[in-house]
Amino acid sequence: MKDLADHLFDILENSVNAGANEVIVKIAHTKSYFFCSISDNGKGINGQEVLDPFVTSRKTRRVGLGLPLLKRAVEDTCGYLKIMRIDESGGTALQFKMYLTHIDAKPLGDLSRTFSDIFFAWPELALKLFRIENDTEKLVLDFQELRIEIEKGQKDYSNIRKHIQEVSQKELRI
Ligand SMILES: Nc1ncnc2c1ncn2[C@@H]1O[C@H](COP(=O)(O)OP(=O)(O)OP(=O)(O)O)[C@@H](O)[C@H]1O
Ligand SMILES: [Mg+2]
Repeated sequence: MKDLADHLFDILENSVNAGANEVIVKIAHTKSYFFCSISDNGKGINGQEVLDPFVTSRKTRRVGLGLPLLKRAVEDTCGYLKIMRIDESGGTALQFKMYLTHIDAKPLGDLSRTFSDIFFAWPELALKLFRIENDTEKLVLDFQELRIEIEKGQKDYSNIRKHIQEVSQKELRI
């Protein structure tokens, strides 16, 4: 995985594979770091062994590399990756921080494109994207809301990819 956009796609794919239909993504992005928190309502994890490359629920091969590779990438910049079970819902929460000024930081890649890809990849997924800034959270994108607007004819389906990319670029400064 060459950049953070690839990692983000992998994390969301993990959520969908775990049966999640609701995902909340929160991002804080400054010149010096990229922080991301993702929580889902999937079947959850048992423990930290998911950070081990040989733990996977894949049927096609016996190693799962998404999380171990992201952990390595963020720790290479003195950042961190945490993953835990959400007690109330049984879903999964994950947080990571990457220091962008570190010489080993991976590029962000095209994150806005990842969000539009996710919109089309999983038409049932209710994703809410928030920006965190100065300790306040702002809702930037709500996929279910967008789908309703498309259905009602308030938004044009052919422009939706562009819309998602523009909003996320502007709001997240990516
Ligand atoms: N959000 C999640 N909810 C429940 N289980 C998860 C979640 N994320 C990861 N897991 C579990 O952790 C395992 C390891 O995830 P990881 O992304 O490292 O590898 P993978 O998805 O199995 O394979 P790869 O990412 O290489 O395609 C998964 O197979 C799954 O069992
Ligand atoms: Mg994965």
